Amino acid sequence: MKVLFSGIQPTGTLHIGNYFGAIKNWVKIQYDYKTYISVVDYHAITIEYDPGKMPEKVMDLTINLFACGIDLEKTILFIQSEVTGHADLTWIFNSVTPMGELERMTQFKDKAKQHKKNVNVGLFDYPVLQAADILLYKGEVVPVGEDQVQHIEFTREVARYFNKRYGKTFPECEALLTKSPRIMGLDGENKMSKSMNNFIGILETENQIWDKVSVAKTDPARIKKTDPGNPFICNIYYYHKLVTNEEAREEVAEGCRTAGIGCLDCKKIFVTNLMRILNPIRERYENLKKNTHSIREILNNNADKCRHIAKQTLLETKERLGLNPVWKL
Ligand code: TYM
Repeated sequence: MKVLFSGIQPTGTLHIGNYFGAIKNWVKIQYDYKTYISVVDYHAITIEYDPGKMPEKVMDLTINLFACGIDLEKTILFIQSEVTGHADLTWIFNSVTPMGELERMTQFKDKAKQHKKNVNVGLFDYPVLQAADILLYKGEVVPVGEDQVQHIEFTREVARYFNKRYGKTFPECEALLTKSPRIMGLDGENKMSKSMNNFIGILETENQIWDKVSVAKTDPARIKKTDPGNPFICNIYYYHKLVTNEEAREEVAEGCRTAGIGCLDCKKIFVTNLMRILNPIRERYENLKKNTHSIREILNNNADKCRHIAKQTLLETKERLGLNPVWKL
């Protein structure tokens, strides 16, 4: 079985961009691979955060992922910082990575602008840690949203640099995208993200979601209900593609074009269909939350499994580098 690896940062509320852009896919294909999913807390400390709230955020994200359908028994879901080796391999990869490769990374440029007062080395080195995450497990398939594709291409480069210099050790992984790899935010202008505050949270209630969606942008040319609209330039119609079946969606599109339905009607259908997906997730979340003890046990077991693989990869890598333990001499 090929190895699948993906990760997600515990930086706050999980939103439907994460869900439809990545997690839904993880749930679908987890049985086709040897699957590792990591809650990447080392990545999350590269921006300003509250250390007191971190444990809760990590646990909450873990429960969210299980509630979304990550299989507790099949998939190895683990906390990055609990496995020694990620940072070691990062250091090793740092030594084969040209600075210029990192300077090109668009996520670094964006984050450096957003966090002007804290442009630290970790933020710059972030993609190398991501490459180490994947390659520590010799990951071959990496399902992500579009914003991460550059980092996956970079990971391939790192593997190539390493293999060329020290001999074939790491696979060249590939990114796997969903049909909706870039979900736009409610502002209709930026990618949906926690930091832009333009998101629909997967645990939000119908009322909370309605409050946000009812005021969200639609086709700007459609001012009155009687104006015909163009669904193909409307963000809400794009959201319909995530939750509404083709036939019903065609009805919505036709209603919009002929001014048969108004924007609010269209939004109501969207929210109803969305809640059909989110309600069961919230129910599972509430149930799992009552049993954090057994979740902690699963995480401990998974960290053990990962430590075992990480140790093997590191031994092999260090051997290649001539960093053999002295007792071997
Ligand atoms: P993160 O935590 O920002 O996001 C987790 C996943 O959600 C996807 N995503 C989206 N997809 C579509 N539309 C959106 N609006 C949207 N917002 C987020 C992301 O593409 C991602 O797949 N650097 C990574 C975490 C990471 C990782 C890894 C990923 C660390 N190590 C190794 C893969 C492999 C990140 O910040 O994801």
